Amino acid sequence: MIENVRTAVVTGGGHGIGRAICRRLSKEGISVVVADLDDSAAQSVAKELDGRAFAVDVGDEQQLSGLITTVENEIGPIDLFVSNAGVGYGDGSAGAASKEGGLNPTDDRWESCWRVNVMAHVYAARELVPRMIERGGGHLVNIASAAGLLSQIGDAAYSATKHAAVAFAESIAITHGEEGIHVAVVCPQAVATRMIGIADDSDSMEGGFGGNDVDGILAPEQVADCIVEGIRDGRFLILPHQQVSEYFRRKASDYDRWISGMQRFRRNLTEQ
Ligand SMILES: NC(=O)c1ccc[n+]([C@@H]2O[C@H](COP(=O)([O-])OP(=O)(O)OC[C@H]3O[C@@H](n4cnc5c(N)ncnc54)[C@H](O)[C@@H]3O)[C@@H](O)[C@H]2O)c1
Repeated sequence: MIENVRTAVVTGGGHGIGRAICRRLSKEGISVVVADLDDSAAQSVAKELDGRAFAVDVGDEQQLSGLITTVENEIGPIDLFVSNAGVGYGDGSAGAASKEGGLNPTDDRWESCWRVNVMAHVYAARELVPRMIERGGGHLVNIASAAGLLSQIGDAAYSATKHAAVAFAESIAITHGEEGIHVAVVCPQAVATRMIGIADDSDSMEGGFGGNDVDGILAPEQVADCIVEGIRDGRFLILPHQQVSEYFRRKASDYDRWISGMQRFRRNLTEQ
């Protein structure tokens, strides 16, 4: 049981971490709404959990606020909103300053990362914070990444937008925490999902993640368990890979040394 949570919405709930969160919340007796760009995946998770599915592009404010309004009108107040949908495309051939690679040879991949990894969190908060304050509180859980505290070697747009997602979560927690809004930001390293090249329900945990799986790849279910525990404890920062805490401390205590260490790490990866 998560106290006072009856209805939850999980974006990107059709696959990977989002799907595992949906399943775990349902086990807690929570009524789950699965929102995903991939309609059939959302339908299939919702069917399994006796929940509701919505096809939504979270990077579109109208669609996201429409989702929230429909859920609140038809199902009930949203007590927990998990902004989990996320995208990453990788740097192009010229590295972090590249104009190529990823999805498109233009600024599109930066824009897509910005909309999905950051603005979707802003749109959800805009719509829900006033509603939640009025009824005495609620939970916003934003899935960022260890790349939002450290950096993702080989993906500048992902790293920059995940940093922005962490900063936005901080702002909401600072501004609205005392009004009953519990904000959590989740910063995993590698998790066995399609994002790192591992199909849903695959037996294999082998990822092609450019060395970012150095501390091991977690199953999405392990991440979902950490999230539920973190919500119960009222935590802000949820770190499924605990090593991230130490790396973050080292980065803060000597930034220049940390950059040199990351340069060395990158060189080792590219020379492998
Ligand atoms: N897998 C990892 O190693 C890892 C590590 C750290 C953080 N994360 C983060 O975890 C979150 C979940 O990713 P995942 O690993 O489960 O990947 P995934 O690709 O398996 O799942 C992402 C889900 O988001 C949905 N989605 C993408 N764009 C959308 C949009 N515009 N609107 C609605 N839904 C959309 C996809 O359809 C998919 O269901 C992401 O925010 C990701 O950045 C993943």
